[in-house]
Amino acid sequence: MQGTPETPTRRPSRGVPSDDPESTRGSFKDDVLRGLAKRRKELPCKYFYDQAGSRLFDEICGLDEYYPTRTETALLRAHGAEIGDWIGPGATLIEFGCGSLLKTRVLLDSLAEPAIFVPIDISADHLAAAAGALAADYPGLKIIPLTADFTRPLDLPPEAASGRRAAFFPGSTIGNFHPADAALFLETVAGIVGPGGDFLIGVDLKKDEDILVRAYDDAKGVTRRFNLNLLVRVNRELGGDFDLGAFEHLALYNGDEGRIEMHLVSTKAQTVRVAGREFRFRRGEAIHTENSYKYGADEFRILAGKAGFDCVHTWIDERDLFSVHALRAV
Ligand code: TRP
Repeated sequence: MQGTPETPTRRPSRGVPSDDPESTRGSFKDDVLRGLAKRRKELPCKYFYDQAGSRLFDEICGLDEYYPTRTETALLRAHGAEIGDWIGPGATLIEFGCGSLLKTRVLLDSLAEPAIFVPIDISADHLAAAAGALAADYPGLKIIPLTADFTRPLDLPPEAASGRRAAFFPGSTIGNFHPADAALFLETVAGIVGPGGDFLIGVDLKKDEDILVRAYDDAKGVTRRFNLNLLVRVNRELGGDFDLGAFEHLALYNGDEGRIEMHLVSTKAQTVRVAGREFRFRRGEAIHTENSYKYGADEFRILAGKAGFDCVHTWIDERDLFSVHALRAV
């Protein structure tokens, strides 16, 4: 799953309660309480991806309006031979936020004897299921799944920390970082793959506003349910009492910032309780739940260049919807 981002490397490590050392729940509670207490309320989008959210996201990826998934998959398939030649044989592949691993299969099919695959995802159950299914189909591949929040510092398993490394970050998840944090994340990846290492990344392009907005506000209402699922999760895991009928899904394009924004808008004045705390909402007040930045191809290459990568190649579909960049760490 696309796990997601605010501050990659410089995030302070937050108090995870000692009775729940392995999960991200401690920080979920802290982040939710902190986000709702802000003057402009917000919730970090990485928390979308609980089990129900991960499933809804898979559904979004198959929607007519959501062009990124099929466009990127087609680019990876069409240019598989070039990508395979560029990465070369025997590589260790590291993927950030891998969801159902469908694009990974397309990539793996283009690689010569990939040695190790490290899928990293925030959603443990979803990752285990996807990695299990992949293992059945790629018997020669050593798969080392890592349940982790990739917006925080992470240690690679020792087997994956040496040798030729290639990182894969599809789905334009980079767009879910603020550009300054995207730059930090790119630097982190440059460190992970090491000098001469590869980074294959999918980035959604700036385009007609209608196409963009529809991709985040589909006719069937799947994205609406996905957005509202965040409140379902807060209710379940943090003892919240959000009234799901009193919040509406809103997707808009902020042209000044070059990003799609998703919000949950309160349809009335109301007070919501979460983990024993009260939060007041005015009618029309929104919780900002996600940003999805869009980049021109050059704009992205400049960002990657500043973070320590040479752009070896960029592939774009014939409708100029989506870009896949082959980067090499200098
Ligand atoms: N990385 C995806 C994107 O920004 C994530 C995404 C797609 C998403 N659709 C969404 C996140 C809807 C939240 C809601 O395009």
